[in-house]
Amino acid sequence: MQGQLSGQRIKVLPRRDFMHQAGAFRLVRPQGLSAHDQIHPHACLRSFIQKMDHGHVFKRIHFQDEMPRMALPRVLAGASADGAPASLAEHRERYGDLALRPRRGPVLELIEVAEAAGLRGRGGAGFPTGRKLRAVAGRRGRPIVLANGTEGEPVSGKDSVLLRCVPHLVLDGVAVAAAAVGAREAIVAAGGPEIAVLETAIAERQRHSIDGISIRLVKVPDGFVTGEETALVHWLNGGPAKPTFTPPRPFERGVDRAPTLVQNVETLAHLGLIARFGPDWFRALGTVEEPGSALVTLGGAVRRPGVYEIPLGLPLLDLLDWAGGASGPISAFLVGGYFGAWVGAGDLGSVALLDSGLRPLGAALGARAIFALPADTCGVVETARVARYLADESAGQCGPCLHGLDAVATALEQIARAEADRRSQDGRLERWLGLIEGRGACRHPDGAARFVKSALRVFAAEFELHARGSCSGDGPPLLPVGPRRVSL
Ligand SMILES: Cc1cc2nc3c(=O)[nH]c(=O)nc-3n(C[C@H](O)[C@H](O)[C@H](O)COP(=O)(O)O)c2cc1C
Ligand code: SF4
Repeated sequence: MQGQLSGQRIKVLPRRDFMHQAGAFRLVRPQGLSAHDQIHPHACLRSFIQKMDHGHVFKRIHFQDEMPRMALPRVLAGASADGAPASLAEHRERYGDLALRPRRGPVLELIEVAEAAGLRGRGGAGFPTGRKLRAVAGRRGRPIVLANGTEGEPVSGKDSVLLRCVPHLVLDGVAVAAAAVGAREAIVAAGGPEIAVLETAIAERQRHSIDGISIRLVKVPDGFVTGEETALVHWLNGGPAKPTFTPPRPFERGVDRAPTLVQNVETLAHLGLIARFGPDWFRALGTVEEPGSALVTLGGAVRRPGVYEIPLGLPLLDLLDWAGGASGPISAFLVGGYFGAWVGAGDLGSVALLDSGLRPLGAALGARAIFALPADTCGVVETARVARYLADESAGQCGPCLHGLDAVATALEQIARAEADRRSQDGRLERWLGLIEGRGACRHPDGAARFVKSALRVFAAEFELHARGSCSGDGPPLLPVGPRRVSL
């Protein structure tokens, strides 16, 4: 079968179609990393992998086709049941080598493949990856690739799981991105136990000289805003890990003043697979606008919390089933992490895990962390705790963010303690939230405002209760508000 892509002849190897295995997924826990029952059987996958045609050159892109078209897991397919990191030998046995030959300049075919796949960033903002690759490749000067594995979101564990289980898939993505934009240097930014795994993985690759680029590993400081791209770049350039005003954006002038491609590590893992299996394969899951699979961290009142790989568009109800169902009555879901929004449990039936599906509810997939709030935990108290955390995590350099978030958090804390009536605030909360939005160097205040606004909507009855000096919750505080690393 021959395909045509922007003038380049693409040879597409014959495909095998597999039945859609809707329940097939891998569940791993960020801590403990134990295997669970509904793991997709890999037997068929393994036998095809042995037949893979190794060593493809991207001048003429030959997509491998041994990965089942519809089945999950994809990015977690190489994760072992005990959660031990896949070694380079295991990774090569599964996928073969990418055999990227560094060229003098960008490899436009790779950018076209990313564009055709419709891959969007998995770090929160959902920016089209192909467009970013093209923007970086189009700048003057030798670009740098920056893999963002910071995961400052306390309620998320997906990037940590990915880096710990399949580090080489992320590093493949780094190599593909570097080839695409013409970079010779890449930086992987991460923290916690991922560092040791990445050190080993990078050393393995260097011993086998498989990348043709230099990859530097950096351990990032803790903090919610550290992973914001300009904060990361600022820190790598010797400044504090605080966002900077834009322009210039990193793609214009980033690390060492070079055009810098900042990409979330999960985005890169998908890129590593798309380069092998092609855009059609990627698009076999998800929707036209939001194709592919994504990692989701599911926590709170579910029987099997953990990191799940889902097809985009999966109903939240199905994800709940995958996780063994609710472990008790649930009042609401926090969707998208701390920059996300509360969604009432009553809306559960209508929620599909897509940005377009969540938009009518004022939510977005964002950091792809979902937390089920038990009915006996007060949503007002939890919102006040997270608002205080977000206020304290402000980088403190933009007035509306520094003072506005603090004022909002203080008001919420008073309401949570039933010391102040939300009505007696004379709409001040809403007014402050309106003043905060869009007024920072980064999106931190916007995300925090969205989160609080959704609470005012979803927990309206509970706010009324607090106004009368009462609270329906008697459970312990739940949402993590310390440094990153969610405990699931
Ligand atoms: C306050 C704040 C914190 C962020 N933290 C992270 C993070 O921990 N990891 C991440 O990949 N992106 C984070 N982002 C998004 C990055 O700025 C950037 O958009 C992303 O790394 C780009 O990668 P992607 O296009 O592959 O998603 C954060 C953004 C903001 C505003
Ligand atoms: S908006 Fe807030 S977090 Fe972002 S740079 Fe300004 S002070 Fe820092």
